[in-house]
Amino acid sequence: MPDIDKIQSVVDSAYAQFSKTPGGANADYIPFLANIPSNLAAVAVVTAKGQSVAAGDAQYRFAIESISKVCTLALALEDMGRQAVQEKIGASPTGLPFNSVMALELHGDKPLSPLVNAGAMASASFVKAGSVEERWQRILGMQRRLGSKEIAMSDELNQSEQTTNFHNRGIAWLLYSAGYMYCDPMEACDVYTRQCSTLLNTVELATIGATIAARGRNPITGEQVLKPENCPCIMAEMTMEGMYDSSGDWAYNVGLPGKSGVGGGILTIVPGVMAIAAFSPPLDKVGNSVRGQKMAAFVAQELGYNLY
Ligand code: DON
Repeated sequence: MPDIDKIQSVVDSAYAQFSKTPGGANADYIPFLANIPSNLAAVAVVTAKGQSVAAGDAQYRFAIESISKVCTLALALEDMGRQAVQEKIGASPTGLPFNSVMALELHGDKPLSPLVNAGAMASASFVKAGSVEERWQRILGMQRRLGSKEIAMSDELNQSEQTTNFHNRGIAWLLYSAGYMYCDPMEACDVYTRQCSTLLNTVELATIGATIAARGRNPITGEQVLKPENCPCIMAEMTMEGMYDSSGDWAYNVGLPGKSGVGGGILTIVPGVMAIAAFSPPLDKVGNSVRGQKMAAFVAQELGYNLY
C-alpha cells in the first residue's frame, strides 16, 4: 500500500479535479433529497489498518439511502448464513432499475439481489427479530458497528420517505404474495425506509467499507463485527448489483466492488487494503453520483487498484 501522504495527495487531487464536474441532478422523488445543496462534495479513504484521509465536505452528514442495503445484507448473512440468503433472496443482478417491478415479474417474483429495493426489503424481513423495534435497532446497530456510533436516523428524512414510499409498499406486497417476505411486509417496508434515512459523513461511509475490506474487523474500533467468510459474499453482491444498471461498467472501468445511494454517496472497496468513499448529490440517470463516481474511480486508478 502507498504511504498515507501519497494517499492524501491522490484524494486531494481527486477532489480538485472532479468536485465541480457538471451534470446530473439531485434525487427528487424523495422531497428531502431534492433540497440538499448540489455543490457539496467530499472524498475519503479509510485503510484496513485504520488510517484515514479526506478532502472537501467530509464532515457533512448525508443520507445513506441504498448503501444501507450493504449493512442489512451483512446482518442477514450473520443471522441466516450465505446459503439461506442466496436461496431466499438471491445473488444475481437484475439488469433493471433498482425499484423495478418488471425485474420481479421476469423472475417468479424472486428479488435476485439484496441490493435492489425488493431484495433489501426481503433482507430486512429476513434478519432475526421479534418486533418492529427490535428489527430496526438491530439493523441500525449494524450500521453503527460497521461505520460509526454517530450514525443516526433523521426524523425529517424518514418522514419525507415514509410519506412518499408507495412504490416500495407495492413491491413489499408483491414479495409477500410470492412467499419472499419473512415478516409482515409493511413492517419490512417501514424498517427498510428507516434504514435508508440515516445520516453519515464520508469518512464514516469509508469506515463501513474498510470494515468489510478488513474481513469484518472495524479498523477504528477494533471490533470483529462480521464473520470473515461473509465479507466476500457482500463484495460479490456489490460487484454484481451495487451500481445498479452500471455495475458492469463500474467493474469494467474500475474493477472493484462498489455501492451507490441516491443521497449521493459512493463506496468502493479494495479487499484487504482500504475503502474509498465519495459524496456529491447530483445523480446520473441510473441513480449514481456523477462526481462521486469520478472521484472514487480516480483514487482507485491513481493508487493502482483494480482486482482484474
Ligand atoms: O427506496 C428508495 O428508493 C430509496 N430509499 C433508496 C434508493 C437508492 O438509494 C437507490 N440508489 N442509488
